[in-house]
Amino acid sequence: MGKIILTGDRPTGRLHLGHFVGSLRRRVELQNSGIFDKIFIMIADAQALTDNADNPEKIRQNIIEVSLDYLACGIDPSKSTIFIQSQVAELCELAFYYMNLVTVSRLQRNPTVKTEIQMRNFETSIPVGFFTYPISQASDITAFRATTVPAGEDQQPMIEQAREIVRRFNGIYGDTLVEPEILLPDNAACMRLPGTDGKAKMSKSLGNCIYLSDSSEEVRKRVMSMYTDPDHIRVEDPGKVEGNTVFTYLDAFCRPEYFAQYWPDYSSLDELKAHYMRGGLGDVKVKKFLFAILEEMLTPIRERRKEWEKDIPAVFDILKRGSEAAREVAAGTLADVRRAMRIDYFDDAELIAEQSRKFQG
Ligand code: TRP
Repeated sequence: MGKIILTGDRPTGRLHLGHFVGSLRRRVELQNSGIFDKIFIMIADAQALTDNADNPEKIRQNIIEVSLDYLACGIDPSKSTIFIQSQVAELCELAFYYMNLVTVSRLQRNPTVKTEIQMRNFETSIPVGFFTYPISQASDITAFRATTVPAGEDQQPMIEQAREIVRRFNGIYGDTLVEPEILLPDNAACMRLPGTDGKAKMSKSLGNCIYLSDSSEEVRKRVMSMYTDPDHIRVEDPGKVEGNTVFTYLDAFCRPEYFAQYWPDYSSLDELKAHYMRGGLGDVKVKKFLFAILEEMLTPIRERRKEWEKDIPAVFDILKRGSEAAREVAAGTLADVRRAMRIDYFDDAELIAEQSRKFQG
């Protein structure tokens, strides 16, 4: 059996650097590595609607934004299937059956659901669809028999929940579904990239994001106003690198060759950090270096986005064809699930014969 990737994003806004280091960059590498037989990348509009039921236009507008970000980053539709969740109706049916295998208390214990409920002030009015989205996410993953889900740390409880559903299903109905594994980012800074203000996470509502589609000027402004070490007041002062957002970003984005290219005074990030900690190195210089690195990375992404923006109908065509291809695969899994669950009445010739015998004594 092959190695298959499924992963996705909610279309609630343009994608930012947190998405990039948390999963997007990895997807492109995996896509180009050739070690996966199939790659599915899903725009999770149905999941986005679980907490945006009253704002469908927001989701509708962001389908194309997220698609453009994917294509700009190097997701190649000839190698990866990009599709829209709501266009694969089979996913709903799978979720409906999986709901029988999960308890309310198990969902209540899901740490991601817990924090999200708090963040949205949902405590007394949780939409049922939102509460059960981990089950729907298990359908997304298992419908494509995904072995591997590249995602950020926040998705770990979702994958665990999916694995439990698979084990429960296979235990009751026989070996049918594939148990997925999460593929986490390989360094701590990428695991959870803070916002430019140093807050735990990049989030649109906090206004602390750098978007992949931001202009050079927008990126420069964000970097120059980034949170550093509040006690590093004069250049001579010793500085801290832990909790210093500029250095966290360097941990996520810096490559050794960037020193020769942009700052030959240093030969490694460790050397740069040591100088900052000793004192005598100002924030502005470090920020300029970070800006140069981000520009090196973002310029080709921006340019590719501009190209795709010129042909929006082609992007919709990619989504349409991707959704059709995804639907075919999901239908295959659903047929297996129905057979395993003994609800494949009209496809089972033996059933009619067996029931006839039973009633004819
Ligand atoms: N929950 C994911 C997010 O918040 C999006 C998502 C939906 C997803 N279905 C998925 C991710 C399946 C990985 C696999 O971004």
